[in-house]
Amino acid sequence: MTKKNMILGVCFILALTLIFPSPSSAIPLNQMLKIAHRGASGLAPEHTMVSFDLAKKMDADYIELDLQTSKEGTLIVMHDSTVERTTDGTGSVNNLTLKQIKELDAGSWFNKEYPEHARDEYIGAKVPTLEEVFQRFGQSINYCIEIKEPELNQGVEKKLLDLIRTYKLEEQTIVQSFSEKSLKKFHQMEPEVPLIQLISRPNLGRKAKKQLEAVQAYAIGVGVNMNRINEDYVKQVNERGLRIHPYTINSKEDMSRMMDWGVTGIITNFPDRLNSWLKDN
Ligand code: G3P
Ligand code: CA
Repeated sequence: MTKKNMILGVCFILALTLIFPSPSSAIPLNQMLKIAHRGASGLAPEHTMVSFDLAKKMDADYIELDLQTSKEGTLIVMHDSTVERTTDGTGSVNNLTLKQIKELDAGSWFNKEYPEHARDEYIGAKVPTLEEVFQRFGQSINYCIEIKEPELNQGVEKKLLDLIRTYKLEEQTIVQSFSEKSLKKFHQMEPEVPLIQLISRPNLGRKAKKQLEAVQAYAIGVGVNMNRINEDYVKQVNERGLRIHPYTINSKEDMSRMMDWGVTGIITNFPDRLNSWLKDN
């Protein structure tokens, strides 16, 4: 091959990558993120494929999901440590086998609880494993994955990291937890995957500095209860170059307030409402 042809070849490949970018939807971390809490969980049963499908359809940047583990240690996508609230079963997730979890109906409760959003297709929705979620969406969406109760879900950090690596989702995943210990453990194993420290009652005012300094050693930001922060806190977080993702912001009034304060992510059960707010503002 002549030098000229080689240069032409390289240019052609470069042009192709510009015209057909990789399927990765990784989002720069300096962008305001739309994060669908448990999927579009205001409109469909939380933590089900249909809820994640809807979030993707509604253009969420990230789907937020929580992890528990089954009896055999498989990573299960569920908020509570017991199955009562969101399925027709009983007992702890930890005490149920994957087969037993797969027999549960994770959709009918939603139709009863929220008749205004009920749909026949939700009846019999399955509880997904994390691997099934990765298999379904791959790199077509970003994931904000919360490690729940690491003391109940032993080894969850390593299992999560292994799956993220298997599906090559390092650049499309944020890992978050209320457990500082768990986040530090994850960070030690893989410092490249960004972390968010969840804090339900953040220290405000002058006390914020020390807490935020500590977080900054291993995380890129904080996920905080929107009812327990103020404008000054958001300012302090931003001034440090940390991200701030308050939860759970469902009304347009709250969206306006949080945006005015300068948050860098909105965690919502209603990504459609957030889209509508963004369109109008
Ligand atoms: O993303 C933050 C939020 O999910 C934490 O609270 O209880 O909904 O998991 P929770
Ligand atoms: Ca969560």
